[in-house]
Amino acid sequence: RKVVLAYSGGLDTSIILKWLQDTYGCEVVTFTADIGQGEEVEPARAKARELGVSEIHIEDLREEFARDYVFPMMRGNTVYEGEYMLGTSIARPLIARRLVEIARATGADAIAHGATGKGNDQVRFELGAYALEPDIRVIAPWREWDLNSREKLLAYAEAHGIPVEGKKHGGGSPYSMDANLLHISYEGGVLEDPWAEPEEGMWRWTTAPEQAPDQSLYLDIGFEAGDPVSVDGERLPPAELMEHLNRVAGAHGVGRDDLVENRYVGMKSRGCYETPAGTVLLKARRAMESLTLDREVAHLKDELMPRYATVIYNGYWWSPERHMLQAAIDTSQTPVNGTVRLKLFKGSVAVVGRSSESDSLFDEAVATFEDDAGAYDQKDAEGFIRLNALRLRTAARRHRP
Ligand code: ARG
Ligand code: SIN
Repeated sequence: RKVVLAYSGGLDTSIILKWLQDTYGCEVVTFTADIGQGEEVEPARAKARELGVSEIHIEDLREEFARDYVFPMMRGNTVYEGEYMLGTSIARPLIARRLVEIARATGADAIAHGATGKGNDQVRFELGAYALEPDIRVIAPWREWDLNSREKLLAYAEAHGIPVEGKKHGGGSPYSMDANLLHISYEGGVLEDPWAEPEEGMWRWTTAPEQAPDQSLYLDIGFEAGDPVSVDGERLPPAELMEHLNRVAGAHGVGRDDLVENRYVGMKSRGCYETPAGTVLLKARRAMESLTLDREVAHLKDELMPRYATVIYNGYWWSPERHMLQAAIDTSQTPVNGTVRLKLFKGSVAVVGRSSESDSLFDEAVATFEDDAGAYDQKDAEGFIRLNALRLRTAARRHRP
């Protein structure tokens, strides 16, 4: 038996590695990916080797993650429950895919992950894996073992010679964290009280809005077919564009969120998120669409969006309904070309301009409050209103006292 483990190199997944070897007597293949979490992935190699692993896969997936997952999701202006920008949700399908591909390539019959039995991530990893490899076996140690406290985990590490120096994921942070190009998340610890405000020191990517520069920052974001392609006239590939915007927007305090969300497994959970680039791009994308999309297309997109967000949140990226929604969303994006100008200031993002040489549907001749030289006949509005009022007037007469 051989199993491919999603391995971060941190304490928890190192314990899982050892536990898999001991409990299942299996050969473990490790998979570690750089998806923009901002931590070195190479150290995972030496740690895996120390634990007796010979097949070690370390990959830079930043470009693929931004291009094939984050950007397609963003085309829907996708937000879960009005707030959460799905930073963790969108990374899981990519990891699931690479796990099963590496299993195929190495002749492994199982995959393993370090998500707990209480969360969304287990569902996302496993639905993704089964959708792509129906006969794969999944091992989720958190649902099997009895190492259900920090002390027990540390004792296990101690007993098996697993170095504890790095402490848990997040380098000794009291929070359960997850980071990639789109966001960094914080859960657990003091956040388990939904009334408790997190201390300022928790936030890692953003300057406190109060401490942000007194000078605002203008940004021009260029779009092609709905995807951001440039910042201030400079073309940037997807991952670099995300990294650049995370830096500049983070410095201006943009992208913090503190919310309570409904997990798919049924519980409410409080989380804090930093999504600087995502926050900027959502604002910019909506402004770009406001100029270039037909009204009915834009409204229909907005109706589909909550459904699409839930599909992704719940782990159904590799599902027929997601593909169907994606096709509809992608089709709408052909005319979404142009530039949006934003102004960042102490945590806020404001749209101050939008233009589209090729696709603007904004007709100044029609819209103007000045003389429109016959572009729009105001007399037409009279019949338009009369017919639309017909049923209202009929009902009002009927019910007149
Ligand atoms: N609650 C968020 C979600 O379900 C974030 C999960 C963070 N995951 C983690 N392993 N720390 O998408
Ligand atoms: C976990 O339980 O592993 C993290 C939280 C989540 O998946 O929702």
